[in-house]
Amino acid sequence: MFPVDKIRADFPILQRSVNGKPLVYFDNAATSQTPQIVIDAIVDYYSNYNANIHRGVHTLSQEATDKYEEARIKIQKHFNAKKSHEIIFTSGTTHGINMIASGFSALLNKGDEVIVSALEHHSNIVPWQMLCEKTGAVLKVIPMDEDGSLRIDIYHELLNSKTKIVFCNHVSNALGTINPIEEIIHAAHKFGAVVLVDGAQATPHIKPDVQELDVDFYVASAHKICGPTGVGLLYGKQKLLEQLPPYQGGGEMIDTVTFEKTTYAGLPHKFEAGTPNICGGIAFGVALDYMNAIGFDTIADYENELLQYGTQELSKIDGLKIYGTVSKTAVISFNIEGIHPYDIGAILDKLGVAVRTGHHCAQPIMDFYNIPGTVRASFSFYNTKEEIDVLVNAVTKAKMMLS
Ligand code: ALA
Repeated sequence: MFPVDKIRADFPILQRSVNGKPLVYFDNAATSQTPQIVIDAIVDYYSNYNANIHRGVHTLSQEATDKYEEARIKIQKHFNAKKSHEIIFTSGTTHGINMIASGFSALLNKGDEVIVSALEHHSNIVPWQMLCEKTGAVLKVIPMDEDGSLRIDIYHELLNSKTKIVFCNHVSNALGTINPIEEIIHAAHKFGAVVLVDGAQATPHIKPDVQELDVDFYVASAHKICGPTGVGLLYGKQKLLEQLPPYQGGGEMIDTVTFEKTTYAGLPHKFEAGTPNICGGIAFGVALDYMNAIGFDTIADYENELLQYGTQELSKIDGLKIYGTVSKTAVISFNIEGIHPYDIGAILDKLGVAVRTGHHCAQPIMDFYNIPGTVRASFSFYNTKEEIDVLVNAVTKAKMMLS
């Protein structure tokens, strides 16, 4: 049996109340909660070895550098990258996407094509639109279907020799759909296009193997995987990262600087200008250790049980419609006929239940369903079926109050 009670004791925030009710935290797709071991790593850093890295011969700087580089190796192992320098620390998924989109502005020509999917978060749409405006490249979209899946048949028709880059999320943040990224990557490679996968919503539930996927770039954020905010990773194949220009100029990313000419550092430093989020990187490594100790397969099985139970119980409420019914992670996006999602969210909060409401930074999905937004309950491995019962009762009450 999954040791959920023991796991819940690792998360101090789960003990708190909201509006006089025990907190039921179902906004995990927005950010996950933080276990004590990660909080301790943050306190330890600032209490004992806070220093800048890669710069000083003094003890504190060396300790911080060693821990930060150890974290990079933990991330490399977790994602099974071939080399640790293929892991670039970022401030989060959006930063990683912008690094690649900006780098490609030097490599794309007018008339080249970029493909994105209809299921993307705005952070996976806007940087590519900006890239196309700058270069004259053309943006193509893989459409979606009523069940929340992508029209992969149309994707195959969109691919051609002009396609240079394909962008897709591994899991949709708004619906939880798990996209067939293996097929997407394989098909793009046949046309010589590179593929960037946004793993922000997949990585809390799935342990991706970047070599097995043969993905060119993969980005994710620590704060969705029990780590702190403000830190994430960009994985890139060495050869591709070497071809891209640096994203920002500054300290740390150079080899030599004179007023006549600057030469850049090798990977990963070429992409890591300025003082990074040192503490965040170290804590990210600790968060991955914590989740790996539980095991991603075990986590996925348990979360799937929660998803099945939640779907079954919420579906009993008259007039409740769930969006996205294909293979997915533990996300239930729903509406109740005739009621605005914000109103449901506000009542749920009064009852101690935290969900996200609105368009979830994925307006094209909402436009597809012709709705202003949804109520999104997203589960994590520290949630319980009893909490789902609280959610279902709270939604039933909200429906009675608002109908
Ligand atoms: N992208 C995050 C979400 O889906 C913030 O809520």
